Amino acid sequence: MGNQPTRLDVYRSAVEDAIEQHLPPAGTPPTLLHEAMRYCLGAGGKRLRPVLLLATADLYPRKADPLPAAVALECLHTYTLVHDDLPCMDNSPLRRGKPAAHVRFGEATAVLAGDALLTEAFRLLASAYADIPDLAAQLTRLLAEAADSRHLIAGQVVDTFSENEAISAETLDYIHAHKTADLLGATLVMGHTLSEAPSGNAEALREAGHQLGLAFQIIDDILDATSSTEALGKEAGSDARMAKNTYVSLHGLEAAREAAGKATERARAKVRSLPDTDPSFLHDLIGQLEHRLR
Ligand code: IPE
Ligand code: IPE
Ligand code: MG
Ligand code: MG
Ligand code: MG
Repeated sequence: MGNQPTRLDVYRSAVEDAIEQHLPPAGTPPTLLHEAMRYCLGAGGKRLRPVLLLATADLYPRKADPLPAAVALECLHTYTLVHDDLPCMDNSPLRRGKPAAHVRFGEATAVLAGDALLTEAFRLLASAYADIPDLAAQLTRLLAEAADSRHLIAGQVVDTFSENEAISAETLDYIHAHKTADLLGATLVMGHTLSEAPSGNAEALREAGHQLGLAFQIIDDILDATSSTEALGKEAGSDARMAKNTYVSLHGLEAAREAAGKATERARAKVRSLPDTDPSFLHDLIGQLEHRLR
């Protein structure tokens, strides 16, 4: 008898199936582009954002199937990784345990596959929720606002143009908040929007996601400095090689661990404050992410 799948396994496997179902089939012309999109989205990602969306949607009765939104989120997140790895950005050769898209397919196809994944995210939201136009519009707006030029891209721009520069702790906080935490805040609010949750929950969930996102990026910085390429499935030590400003380079390892713990606890406290639900799965998952190894 094998072990029973955990709730996390069940969510992850639902996400894998939904990615397979919602993405254009591999043989769709132009085949190289669709092959590249599937390669980037393929196995190896932790699927953290889609799992968090599903877990948040399950805190209350569902308004609609959250899986297409979960896939849209993973498409958008994956595009940010493809572009983040390009030679003109972090110049990272490995992603999710495989050669990065630009190494495997060349730069032009990697850029275009990223463009296509970004667009696919919004196509999916608009088409999967077309029967509930308000919901489609809300989800589209939430994802667009998190990923736009004032948020995710703002963080990526300041991150990229701060290489080899001395920056303040406030600027680093700005980078982390925008490049990573805004999307995690939106993830939880999207899950909330897909359920019949009390409307007052949205702000608590946004803050929980944001604090989780801050912890997540600090831990990403710690792992880059302390783990191995093999364990991470992406190049360890790449932040130092690129002379990036990270939580570790600015504050040191010990302060980084402490800050990640505090942000994790703030996220968990917000989740505990939600009324009329049992948030223990989400609460425990946020706690486990503080001790992740990849
Ligand atoms: C990597 O995200 C980029 C950051 C925001 C740190 P993940 O660590 O979630 O990457 P995957 O999706 O598991 O590959
Ligand atoms: C990336 O941060 C954040 C986004 C892609 C938006 P990093 O550059 O630290 O992510 P990794 O370490 O390459 O996954
Ligand atoms: Mg980067
Ligand atoms: Mg990077
Ligand atoms: Mg990193």
